[in-house]
Amino acid sequence: MITIHELRSKYIEFFKSKGHAEISGKSLIPENDPTVLFNSAGMQPLVPYLLGESHPSGKRLVDFQKCVRTGDIEEVGDESHLTCFEMLGNWSLGDYFKKESIAYSWEFLTSPNWLALDPRMISVTVFQGDENAPRDDTSAEAWASLGVPADRIAYLGAADNWWSAGLTGPCGPDSEIFFYIGEGLPPAGSNKGSDPKAWMEIWNNVFMEFNRVDERTLVRLPAQNVDTGMGLERTVCILQGKRSVYDTEAFGPIIAAIESLAGYKYRSDPEKDRSVRIISDHIRTATFILGDPKAVMPSNVGAGYVLRRIIRRAVRHGRKLGIEGAFLSKPAAVVVDNFSGPFPELAQNRARVLDELSKEEEKFLETLVKGEHEFEKMLPNLLKNPQRIMSGRLAFKLYDTYGFPIELTEELAGESGMKVNRPEFDEAYKKHQELSRAGSEQLFKGGMADHSDVSTKYHTATHLLQQALTIVLGDHVAQKGSNITTERLRFDFAHGAPMTKEELERVEKIVNEQIARDLPVTMTMMKLDEAKAYGARALFGEKYEETVKVYTMGDFSKEVCGGPHVERTGLLGKFRIQKEQSSSSGVRRIYAVLE
Ligand code: SER
Repeated sequence: MITIHELRSKYIEFFKSKGHAEISGKSLIPENDPTVLFNSAGMQPLVPYLLGESHPSGKRLVDFQKCVRTGDIEEVGDESHLTCFEMLGNWSLGDYFKKESIAYSWEFLTSPNWLALDPRMISVTVFQGDENAPRDDTSAEAWASLGVPADRIAYLGAADNWWSAGLTGPCGPDSEIFFYIGEGLPPAGSNKGSDPKAWMEIWNNVFMEFNRVDERTLVRLPAQNVDTGMGLERTVCILQGKRSVYDTEAFGPIIAAIESLAGYKYRSDPEKDRSVRIISDHIRTATFILGDPKAVMPSNVGAGYVLRRIIRRAVRHGRKLGIEGAFLSKPAAVVVDNFSGPFPELAQNRARVLDELSKEEEKFLETLVKGEHEFEKMLPNLLKNPQRIMSGRLAFKLYDTYGFPIELTEELAGESGMKVNRPEFDEAYKKHQELSRAGSEQLFKGGMADHSDVSTKYHTATHLLQQALTIVLGDHVAQKGSNITTERLRFDFAHGAPMTKEELERVEKIVNEQIARDLPVTMTMMKLDEAKAYGARALFGEKYEETVKVYTMGDFSKEVCGGPHVERTGLLGKFRIQKEQSSSSGVRRIYAVLE
């Protein structure tokens, strides 16, 4: 039976035999691209070449790329979703196109010399055409010429058969390849269009001939490229005749480690199995992120926050399985051992992976203990409620203040014969999510999601605060995050130590002085280098358009920013810092209000 490591090697060998140069996969952390947190597709590191730059290794390339996608994190725990996976990819940079690409895919999948999959179990989709590009008859004909029957070729729309990595960038129609996962042979007429659940996607051939410049503009690329991606874990699952990616040896040894820690036999209880799968997926993802040459550490912002969430979720499910104390470093060591062949960086960074995981785990376990303690303090009052219902607001407070997960609150409540008002919690949680999403969109796009008057005031106050912090603490105070609600502002900035009471008072005083001076707030459009020459503050590493807006507040602050802002600082009212705390290592967080 073919293993995951053998499939990877075979793929590379096949495309090398077809004149492709093997290039090495890249870091999980994207280069010069602040719009994505992790590489989420094999093509991401190749974007410049798909756009037309020449690649030093030539026009035919092959590689395997580690990817992290957390969009579906809530689905992880079923039989197929993963947050970290490998993508096998072959590329043509203006060399071969649809016909050859499809012929290569078919040969690799079905030839007895390669994967030898049963052609009767395969179906494909091609683009049905829209205002951007015509119906892809070329691809359909290519499949038909290889012997794929007409009822296994489905024409689908852009939602299924148009691929792009993001809102802008290289894109084009694609042709996807599926394997039948129903019982026996697929019935006549069955394909991804007529019976979507019965088919699992294993490979995607994208024909990248366009570049989406903005929402309205699609231009032709200098060359017709091919970008393909084969899901390694899924394909191996099919080749091994398994029903779940978790049943392959990509996960087997990790699951075995968890089984022995929990004293639980996998596949004896569906609810516990789900926890086992979540832990094994999350620990693999966390190990790959921490083992990356450009690793991020757990924190409260960006990629670090995703990592923190993943680790914490794994810890929580460990407790559900009855595992006491810190345990993550054991399955993590298994991941390092099993994947250091193709990813030697894991072994090189072994100590860091295990240390950071344990540190984060200990920290979270403390949070859990604290949360449990707080819950116990609330308990006598809660028990006075004759309906035995704990309010969702209180449960949210435990979550928001102590990071205490709702499931645990429910569990503790349950132990005392109570229920949590979950709809009320969900509502508070949703509101919180929306606000933080607005905050991170703002970080990436420079725009304000909420243009209401109060938010606008907080936005202006944030500029004053940052300038005041620079005056009091020094030039190293760089913005690390900003989140505004109609109730308060939250500002994260680089600074190595807690602020003293005097420092906080000085910052508050400076901001209030600028409000009292009633400074005019003006906006000027400038070229980015003009803005720099003008001395405007800009977010380091941020991608800006060539022409930017610069907001000037009297003689006090100059900043590149999408706005909006109030017209005069005098409109802000009184500025008060509510609290100053650590956000992550080397980053402080301030909450402040306008009264
Ligand atoms: N970019 C395509 C995908 O990720 C093919 O590699 O599916």
